[in-house]
Amino acid sequence: MDYKNLVKEALAAREMAYIPYSGFAVGAALLTKEGKIYRGCNIENAAFGPTNCAERTAFFKAVSEGERKFAAIAIVGGPKDNLPADYCYPCGVCRQVMAEFCSDDFIVVIGKTEDDFKVHTLGEVLPFTFREPDLHK
Ligand code: THU
Repeated sequence: MDYKNLVKEALAAREMAYIPYSGFAVGAALLTKEGKIYRGCNIENAAFGPTNCAERTAFFKAVSEGERKFAAIAIVGGPKDNLPADYCYPCGVCRQVMAEFCSDDFIVVIGKTEDDFKVHTLGEVLPFTFREPDLHK
């Protein structure tokens, strides 16, 4: 898989971040198993709580279009106006949303630039997951 291109898509998504409060711009690019890419950015709110992370924007866009099978997500984030200086790992809420739709082998790519990224699995970044079957134990 071309993770370089997926990071590039996440960097493009980051340009759309609506971040009047934090100035922290995040972009995500979610790859379906059929090869389609959904972009997402963070969208902030004056009431703070309704803020949506880039990763969830990408997932909710895709799921609302009928997608259910995902291969990978690339994430880039950092203070606006510069390329990310550090790796931006997904927050706990976004990891849990990933776990709703993806198994432990789902790929999570954390990038700074299209040539500098780390490749993880969801199982690595969210161990001891809570999923639907746990409701019946
Ligand atoms: N943010 C994301 O979009 N994804 C993450 O994984 C971490 C945090 C956003 C939320 C908020 O708009 C800003 O970054 C600062 O927390």
